[in-house]
Amino acid sequence: MQDVIDIHDLTEQEILDIYALTEEMKADQPAYHDALSNRTLLMFFAKPSTRTRVSFEAGMTHLGGHAIYFSEEQSQLSRGESLADTAKVLSRYTDVIMARLFEHETMIELAEHADVPVINGLTDLLHPCQALSDVFTMREYGIEDGPLAFVGDGNNVAHSLMQICATLDIPCRIATPEGYEPDTTITDRVAGADVTITNDPAEAVDGARAVYTDVFVSMGESAEKKAAFDGYQVTPELMAHGDDAKFMHCLPAHRGEEVATAVMDGPNSIVYDQAENRQHVQKAILYSLLTV
Ligand code: CP
Ligand code: NVA
Repeated sequence: MQDVIDIHDLTEQEILDIYALTEEMKADQPAYHDALSNRTLLMFFAKPSTRTRVSFEAGMTHLGGHAIYFSEEQSQLSRGESLADTAKVLSRYTDVIMARLFEHETMIELAEHADVPVINGLTDLLHPCQALSDVFTMREYGIEDGPLAFVGDGNNVAHSLMQICATLDIPCRIATPEGYEPDTTITDRVAGADVTITNDPAEAVDGARAVYTDVFVSMGESAEKKAAFDGYQVTPELMAHGDDAKFMHCLPAHRGEEVATAVMDGPNSIVYDQAENRQHVQKAILYSLLTV
């Protein structure tokens, strides 16, 4: 494994290896406390973040390493330095780069020019660290056989979930309003897998073990989009179509928009476990990229 940019590039075995290591990270095995000493993670952000930034930075501390927050707007990129030069120079100082960017093509360009491993901390197209953590969380709850239903926007989080479900043979149901279906580059890639796309939330949730949603308006998008999502809120009534389904959300959440407060804060919500597992999974990724 050279980079973690797209779930599509990972084999089932690579994902299972990350999970085996994640369990050791979560058990806080002392063997890993200094595993990345003197190693530096560069965290390159072109968009805001709470979980990704803090979980990666604290995770690097746990492994005995160091992390640097690098904001695009405060860097020379904002004054016209090329991404290629930036990637080359950052690779001379640091051991691994995690980036959160707008265009997915920019992530690919960054990885092409970097001489160190690159981890995708979210692009407009994909959010692989999130999906890896989400399925790890489903495994902890014994619901990894699915189905997983995603209700809302056919966005980066939905795309990475579709991809990981396809790789691990988890039935996946996606319900979006018309015009907000997942990107065809992703649907083409998962052709042949048990992935269903519908405009009917109840159909998607029918018999699901996990019901997942995300914000209707992603970072960088116009709020006007919200109007299209009437009827796509995850409510107790919608949850009732599932099979004692857990509620999942990558966070940040907007109670009263994509999810009802009663569901978000209800007994079947596992959203904070998902958030915690980001750190354990990412520590496993960092360790794998830098030492295995
Ligand atoms: N889920 C997630 O990536 O959260 P942040 O935007 O806070 O990093
Ligand atoms: N789809 C959301 C995910 C945030 C973690 C966004 O891109 O803003």
